[in-house]
Amino acid sequence: MLSVLEQRRVALSRSTDAARKAKLGQFLTPASTATFMAGLFTNTQGEQCRLLDAGAGIGSLSCAFLEQCATGKLCFGHVDVEAFEIDHALHAELERSLSGFTGRLPLDFEINAKDFIEEAVRRIIYGHGSNFTHAILNPPYKKIGNGSYHRRIMQDVKIEVVNLYAAFVALAIALMAEGGQLVAIIPRSFCNGPYYRPFRDYLRRKTALRRMHLFESRNTAFKDDGVLQENLILHLEVGGRQEAVVVSHSLDDQFTDLAVQAYPFARIVVPTDSERCIHVPQGDSGAEALSAVCTHTLSELGISVSTGPVVDFRLREYLRDLPEPGTIPLLYPGHFGAQALEWPKVGLRKPNAIQRNPATEKWLYPNGHYCVVRRFSSKEEKRRIFASVVRPDAFADATMLGFENHLNVFHDGKHGLPAALARGLAVYLNTSTVDRGFRSFNGHTQVNATDLKVIKYPSREMLMELGASVTEVPQDQHAIDALVKEISEHGKR
Ligand SMILES: C[S@@+](CC[C@H](N)C(=O)[O-])C[C@H]1O[C@@H](n2cnc3c(N)ncnc32)[C@H](O)[C@@H]1O
Repeated sequence: MLSVLEQRRVALSRSTDAARKAKLGQFLTPASTATFMAGLFTNTQGEQCRLLDAGAGIGSLSCAFLEQCATGKLCFGHVDVEAFEIDHALHAELERSLSGFTGRLPLDFEINAKDFIEEAVRRIIYGHGSNFTHAILNPPYKKIGNGSYHRRIMQDVKIEVVNLYAAFVALAIALMAEGGQLVAIIPRSFCNGPYYRPFRDYLRRKTALRRMHLFESRNTAFKDDGVLQENLILHLEVGGRQEAVVVSHSLDDQFTDLAVQAYPFARIVVPTDSERCIHVPQGDSGAEALSAVCTHTLSELGISVSTGPVVDFRLREYLRDLPEPGTIPLLYPGHFGAQALEWPKVGLRKPNAIQRNPATEKWLYPNGHYCVVRRFSSKEEKRRIFASVVRPDAFADATMLGFENHLNVFHDGKHGLPAALARGLAVYLNTSTVDRGFRSFNGHTQVNATDLKVIKYPSREMLMELGASVTEVPQDQHAIDALVKEISEHGKR
């Protein structure tokens, strides 16, 4: 049954053009992933199952769930499926898929052509919700603009989300009964960042997280559709009490290398983290050792981190290709290569200098030692975090510096740091362990100042010791990791 459905999915994926896929978020779940997801539901005693499949496509997820029921892995006296699918062109296939189970199970199903968001909001407002016992979702992904219709109607039910996938999950939860279970495959982007914080808070308030599964490769979960993003599968229990969370990883949807481990919830959402980022931990003994000594927040260390204050297109008239009288150095990520800082850099295709005058003054920092981290890295780069040191002697007699907006700058109240501290920070941030920790809560390649505030740091003394032990930040990854390991073990004694 599922293999026939899989053939139809592959055929449909080939025949649907990319524009339609993108418009409706029509990326259908492969059978292996659907079966894995359906296998995450725990068997409860309920006689009656009411299953919600919001954005059902051709029914791959509902059918994987029904297969669990038909083979006795999930037991219910009766199953009712409500499958929302806005695209009428898929209804015949969806009907065919679900009908395949009517002879095998006590089953009723309804295909609902309404816009799920609109209908869910209506049901919540009129009190017709709260009765689904199970939900299985692979929702559409698309940004929801500020003034959009969906954003406005969701405000009526106090749900604040920036993407359709978060809207679908939040609304599905709102339509479920206490104790209901929801399994969803969604992009990992909600795990961090300020825009998704209301959604993270909503999940935390309404559900207990039971299980997370991360696909390590960005291009495998929806490989037939060429979707490039990190995907997470979540298993949530509505109104449940939060206990330890089972976390698993696999390279791809064959699940041959499945690694499973349970973690206390405090490893998933650090209790002191005001951003309430969601980490997806990966067993790593080096990280355990280092995290034992890295317990400090940046503010405890008296260090601030900000996005580079010079937004170049707003100050265009003051930018200069090369330094000239009345200008000061302007630093872009391109000035920080694999080796040392290079400034001025001819052929960078970015200005090297900015005029110092009353219009620019408030965006400039005094020349000094700073640690900087690029905000954007490419997928090919080995690390997401790429930290460098700015030394005042690189700019001869410059009194001030401009840091452009594509850099994050560590500073002390908009002034430089002690030299050893700037170097120690850069070495620490360049370790493999920090990189792995960072990837555990950030699925994209962007590194924002808020992300750097979430990371925990060694003590100021340890960072100074680390910085004092080198004259330059080492380039070799083994050298960086060995140095930090040695100093963190020394720090534990
Ligand atoms: C990512 S696909 C997943 C389909 C299916 N759940 C699966 O896993 O194969 C999302 C589906 O949601 C449908 N959809 C998009 N917007 C919708 C809306 N507002 N209401 C209901 N369905 C919608 C799309 O047509 C698409 O079939």
